[in-house]
Amino acid sequence: MRNQLENIKQQALAALQSCQDSKELDALRVKYLGKKGELTAILKQMGKLSPEERPIVGQVANEVRQALEEALSVRQTELQSQALEQQLAEETLDVTLPGKASTAGGLHPLNIVLEDLMDIFQSMGFDVVDGPEVETDYYCFEALNVPKDHPARDMQDTFYLGENLVLRTQTSAAQIRVMENRKPPIRIICPGRVFRADEVDATHSPVFHQVEGLVVDKGITMCDLKGCLEQFAHEIYGPETQVRFRPSFFPFTEPSVEVDVTCSECGGKGCRVCKGTGWIEILGAGMVHPNVLRGCGIDPDVYSGFAFGIGLDRLTTTRYKISDIRLLFENDQRFLEQFQGR
Ligand code: DAH
Repeated sequence: MRNQLENIKQQALAALQSCQDSKELDALRVKYLGKKGELTAILKQMGKLSPEERPIVGQVANEVRQALEEALSVRQTELQSQALEQQLAEETLDVTLPGKASTAGGLHPLNIVLEDLMDIFQSMGFDVVDGPEVETDYYCFEALNVPKDHPARDMQDTFYLGENLVLRTQTSAAQIRVMENRKPPIRIICPGRVFRADEVDATHSPVFHQVEGLVVDKGITMCDLKGCLEQFAHEIYGPETQVRFRPSFFPFTEPSVEVDVTCSECGGKGCRVCKGTGWIEILGAGMVHPNVLRGCGIDPDVYSGFAFGIGLDRLTTTRYKISDIRLLFENDQRFLEQFQGR
């Protein structure tokens, strides 16, 4: 029996050495040490031995088992590290290759300027509201004191979607919606896209952007309008910029003004950008017309207000010295990426 045990040990050790993967290794484990394995089979015959022989053979059997278990685990580690090395050799990874740079997105210049503008007005207590781009004739014109036959309709070439449905030509439409839904004191701005049937050129686009502003309260005067808009212009263009209020006409305000700032390109001397005038027009404004207040259920004998409409595209092109408004709408990444952090 001793010889048998010794044989099994030699065979098993040899088999282990030539074994090449963990599957084979498992098969060997079962073959020698398993319940029906060869070693177990011999141990089962121990009962036939004499009481003197039994402990001696038992000890040998245990030694053989231990030796096999040890050899198995050594071989297993060997096979595992072999497999790992092979895998590493196959999957070569060149850590010196340059990485792929991930491109970060950024804000569109219009949005950079809009965020600054919203900061300025929010710090003066204005709320930011939204309004629909598809408007009814009523909100876009009628309620703004522009009846159907009014010549002022010719000031704006409107895209009609139906008899009474238009793409809004001005964010002023939002004023009416706000006054219908809120009670004074009101202080809001409404930024958004507006649409006019204009030919595209360096200074015109059928889609552009306005920021509407509206303040309604008791005792609001032209002084409030001037103070507020001057403050805004100085924060956007710098304190050295001069601001001028020119009389103008809008059907929904009386009196009405247009606001110019000194040209940031030439500092007011006159250049190509300001067409030699030294001034750039940035917004229209005025004291809200009593008809408009009345139409929204606000008593013009008790309340007064001022409103303004800022041309966001103009603000952006002058701030960044962009010579052609079309650049704002073409989404050329080489153009867009110049404005991050400016
Ligand atoms: N809606 C005018 C335009 O598109 C701009 C404007 C002028 C808005 C005067 C106003 C305002 O709120 O009071 O040209």
